[in-house]
Amino acid sequence: MADATDLLDAGERLGPDELRALQLERLRASLRHAYEHVPFYRESFDKAGVRPEDCRSLADLARFPFTTKADLRANYPYGMFAVPRERIRRLHASSGTTGRPTVVGYTDNDLAMWSDMVARSIRAAGGRPGDVVHVAYGYGLFTGGLGAHYGAERLGCTVIPASGGMTARQVQLIQDLEPSVIMVTPSYMLTLLDEFERQGVDPRATSLRVGVFGAEPWTEQMRQEIEERFAIDAVDIYGLSEVIGPGVAQECAETKDGLHVWEDHFYPEIVDPVTGEVLPEGERGELVFTSLTKEAMPVVRYRTRDLTRLLPGTARAFRRMEKITGRSDDMVILRGVNLFPTQIEEIVLRTPGVAPHFQLRLTREGRLDTLTVRAEARPDAPSEVREAAARAIVAAVKDGIGVSVGVEIVEPESLERSVGKIRRIVDLRPRDAGAPGGC
Ligand code: DLL
Repeated sequence: MADATDLLDAGERLGPDELRALQLERLRASLRHAYEHVPFYRESFDKAGVRPEDCRSLADLARFPFTTKADLRANYPYGMFAVPRERIRRLHASSGTTGRPTVVGYTDNDLAMWSDMVARSIRAAGGRPGDVVHVAYGYGLFTGGLGAHYGAERLGCTVIPASGGMTARQVQLIQDLEPSVIMVTPSYMLTLLDEFERQGVDPRATSLRVGVFGAEPWTEQMRQEIEERFAIDAVDIYGLSEVIGPGVAQECAETKDGLHVWEDHFYPEIVDPVTGEVLPEGERGELVFTSLTKEAMPVVRYRTRDLTRLLPGTARAFRRMEKITGRSDDMVILRGVNLFPTQIEEIVLRTPGVAPHFQLRLTREGRLDTLTVRAEARPDAPSEVREAAARAIVAAVKDGIGVSVGVEIVEPESLERSVGKIRRIVDLRPRDAGAPGGC
């Protein structure tokens, strides 16, 4: 069989100088396209006093204004499109839990590019033409299901369009149709794990060998848990609807060391989330993307609110982004200490006696915000192990994060299970207390 490097596509084979030259050429064209066809960009560039032709080097991008989710909402539904509506072949939309949804559109070329990027991602994850791919990301307005589906077809795989839900049937399908690759949120993979166990089927004995997990933050501890319980390689896929959907960045199976950004199509920057200043390579901050080739809805310096840092390439020449710690809007500020659900995930998953299911409950007592970690006991954990687990989590949060939290070890199977993106934070504080956005 050909090794992975034989399978690289033309974009993945570009040397660093060729890549930078291609990016600059595409960036200039994309800025021009946005400026000429989207009134929002014309106004925002004019207001900032920049014209597309002012972008003479990649560093000049920093002179251009940001685009935010609020801008997309203000231009709902079609205001951000740069082509006539008749050329839009597909629409997707975000769930809109915190206001109007945002709609995104794709031309034929956009759909082809997206499929190519997801095909490249699945290949980097270890999938190969001819594999059977089980897609358990939700199909519909969410980009996960259809994005994964078209990419797997493009790679030359056989696709099982399972979508999310009907968990018992998913387990049946996996046994009967023998997929080698599964694409699903990591939290729903855990729901599948419960179902395997409930049906008395050994999850390590399936045909699955690769899992492509994304759409929500997950930790190295979660990777270990999933890899051990299913005997598979678990790798991370990243993306967001506004940029394209899944397939913006992907972790390579051979290194599992962060996600290579497919930067021949999506140009990343890291900025200070407060000042907006571009940070030097390697520093942590907010990820910002500019699309380089999108036709229907080019995005210029889109603020993702995702926090990470950029690192040099390894398995590919493209830069890597570190696994995402969280979104700025998922950050809980507890008595002045910043805390992300992923930090709690790391702690819960290494604590003996507790299952990888937890929830963070925020309440307010008087003027004090309180966080309670509710973690599920493993079915075989006796009460003294559960009590020790509670003490261990309290101590680890205090030592590692520097804040006091409450811990409740709840009964097995008592916390709500994910069928897609999990919601870790349950905010029970009075409405004006500033709710962090779950996803
Ligand atoms: O979640 C696209 C996607 C589908 C990616 C399937 C991967 C797999 P949205 O619904 O627009 O799109 O949500 C985008 O989800 O800004 C991140 O906050 C989060 N997210 C996506 N992938 C990851 C990941 C899809 N691998 C938002 N790690 C993004 C952490 C992720 N967070």
